[in-house]
Amino acid sequence: MIDNPYRPFAAEIIELRRETSAEFTMKVKAGADFCPGQFFQVSLPKIGEAPISVSSFGPDFIEFTIRAVGTLTNALHEYRVGDRIFIRGPYGHGFPVDKFRDRDLLIVAGGSGLAPVRPLIQKSLAGELGIRSLKLIIGFKNSEGILFSQQIEEWAKKSDLTLTIDKAEPGWSGKTGLVTEHIKKFPKDNLKNLEAVVVGPTMMMKFSTAELVLLGLKEEQIWVSFERLMSCGIGKCGHCKIDYTYVCVDGPVLNYPHASRLID
Ligand SMILES: Cc1cc2nc3c(=O)[nH]c(=O)nc-3n(C[C@H](O)[C@H](O)[C@H](O)COP(=O)(O)OP(=O)(O)OC[C@H]3O[C@@H](n4cnc5c(N)ncnc54)[C@H](O)[C@@H]3O)c2cc1C
Ligand code: FES
Repeated sequence: MIDNPYRPFAAEIIELRRETSAEFTMKVKAGADFCPGQFFQVSLPKIGEAPISVSSFGPDFIEFTIRAVGTLTNALHEYRVGDRIFIRGPYGHGFPVDKFRDRDLLIVAGGSGLAPVRPLIQKSLAGELGIRSLKLIIGFKNSEGILFSQQIEEWAKKSDLTLTIDKAEPGWSGKTGLVTEHIKKFPKDNLKNLEAVVVGPTMMMKFSTAELVLLGLKEEQIWVSFERLMSCGIGKCGHCKIDYTYVCVDGPVLNYPHASRLID
């Protein structure tokens, strides 16, 4: 019998955590060893299906951090521990962790872009990827939108971490300004050994990558995760295709010289 690659499997929700007013993290019972940066097609029968990045994983669980923006993601907000959702995957090329070995790694994440890089941060800090040093620049619009706040505190103890919100606000004593302003302050010595990962909204990625190039990084040293409307997730339907690139299978993580050419 031919296997149906579109057939999802049921996964039980074992934990739910509210992150912000619009975002929540759903932990499901399922698991395997993925590459940080990969995604699953998450679905509910008769409602819809959408690509959602793995925001953490272990041998027997996967976490998805979901922003309620439309049909599926709003419906998922109503689900509770013990309910089952449907998933298929993992799909796509994640971060090139072999290339990051023995290198210094800078991760620049904006808003919900922190979700797909969270497994990369967790594995780097756990010493599983052989990275030489980790620097994080994480930006949010405002303090209400901060994701994984407890974990960010833990990461700050083990890495060089800058957490910033766009503008000053009452009660906030931390850093302010766009992530690009903090990239400008990055030390210029030893850039040769650096790999940079940039994930976030389109404009944030555009200006952050430009700032990294101005700093002195070669485009080949920059990696981005490219969100694009998808359907099959397996290189068959062409929904995500730009020129010769199928973002679902060639990405979502792409080296910047490749990603910068993918303009519709
Ligand atoms: C590789 C990849 C990884 C991703 N990872 C994540 C992740 O980790 N977490 C996450 O939350 N999202 C993630 N996304 C984005 C997510 O897949 C999309 O937001 C998806 O469309 C949500 O599905 P939905 O059915 O809830 O939204 P849809 O109903 O498809 O709506 C999508 C967008 O269209 C707008 N829209 C809907 N209906 C209308 C209308 N009638 N008129 C105008 N606008 C409308 C909505 O406001 C929304 O902005 C990822 C996407 C990709 C490609
Ligand atoms: S989503 Fe179908 S080819 Fe990429």
